[in-house]
Amino acid sequence: MLNGKKILIGITGSIAAYKIPLLVRLLIKQGAEVQVVMTPAAHDFVTALTLSTLSNKPVLTDAFDPETGQWDSHVALGLWADLMLMAPATANTLAKMAHGIADNYLLTVYLSARCPVFFAPAMDLDMYKHPATQQNIRELQQRSHQLIAPASGELASGLCGEGRMEEPEMLFEIIKAHFKNGKRFAGKKVLISAGPTYEAIDPVRFIGNHSSGRMGIELAKTFASQGAKVILVLGPVELDTKLGNVEIVPVTSAAEMYDSCMAFFAEADITVMSAAVADYRPEQQADSKIKKKDETLTLSLVKNKDILAAMGQQKRADQFLVGFALETDHEIENAVKKLHTKKLDLIVLNSLADEGAGFGKYTNKVTLIDKAGEKTAFDLKPKREVAADLADAIFSKIV
Ligand code: CTP
Repeated sequence: MLNGKKILIGITGSIAAYKIPLLVRLLIKQGAEVQVVMTPAAHDFVTALTLSTLSNKPVLTDAFDPETGQWDSHVALGLWADLMLMAPATANTLAKMAHGIADNYLLTVYLSARCPVFFAPAMDLDMYKHPATQQNIRELQQRSHQLIAPASGELASGLCGEGRMEEPEMLFEIIKAHFKNGKRFAGKKVLISAGPTYEAIDPVRFIGNHSSGRMGIELAKTFASQGAKVILVLGPVELDTKLGNVEIVPVTSAAEMYDSCMAFFAEADITVMSAAVADYRPEQQADSKIKKKDETLTLSLVKNKDILAAMGQQKRADQFLVGFALETDHEIENAVKKLHTKKLDLIVLNSLADEGAGFGKYTNKVTLIDKAGEKTAFDLKPKREVAADLADAIFSKIV
């Protein structure tokens, strides 16, 4: 799978650099060509000798090598690579990448690279959480660079929290998955709904829910990175929504989501409804702000149309329809019922009983149930990985 793949690894000055030799070894053993580029600071954490021995190539830090008199073109190297991974990526390097600063050789290579770029941050938890770092990460994600989010755990400072670079074995798996999946959804149109809906009570108030939209956004990124044309019908969310290669249709209410989803449904090969659509809306929407008067206020609610059920009714045999079920009790039973009544091909069950799963979380724990009743339960994992599992399951069912 990795045979002949050209992988550029940029190492920056973080203690996590000591883990990269293992990654290089894993890649080389699978037949990849690996070129390591280090920033000057990275040399304090891992030796170039170790890395050049494992990669069978000289490690580069400067464009010009005074010993050999050789000049290495950053442009040629940037064009050479099939994939570039910045790992560990310090807060400083992320900031420079985000702002196009090219004050070392690695950054000039980065600016010349046309291949997919992955980055694995490594830093202390407060540096990671800092709005400046988060903004830089978002900026890079907007360029469709793939964030390999740091894990939570013990940090070199002795503190415990988010900021620990993902383990080399996991970096290896992510690189492998990238090449394995390639553009397997090329030519497919994928419609995804995500986020909550807001049902207006008056001009300033609404009925909503805690959905962050993260699961659907990760799904959109996954399908787009695997070649699909993705339309994301997105309710009001706080998350960054400038996703490369994804057409975003912003909506607010369930009725708007219905209209937008149904407008695209007929042309979609695959539809995944991850949105948390409000089941009811206020019967009346006041034109002006409702004033405080009596001790109690009664709102009369009317049912919204079920988008997924409407799709199930219209679905052609060549279309694949996936729904979500968020359940608190009788989880499997309820999910299976939804699968059949809404005429789905697959349902993704999340249980609120599982810690770390569901609304607003970075992680999720799902069970997939297909039409034949086959169940596949997954561990708790980042939503990005849940999205990859779901894409795998869908792919295996449509080929
Ligand atoms: N859904 C939808 N339109 C609605 C309500 C739900 O398309 N008006 C979709 C959701 O996007 C999800 C699936 O239906 O994919 C199941 O949503 P869920 O809220 O779990 O189930 P409901 O059918 O609304 O049933 P209940 O709230 O009673 O559990």
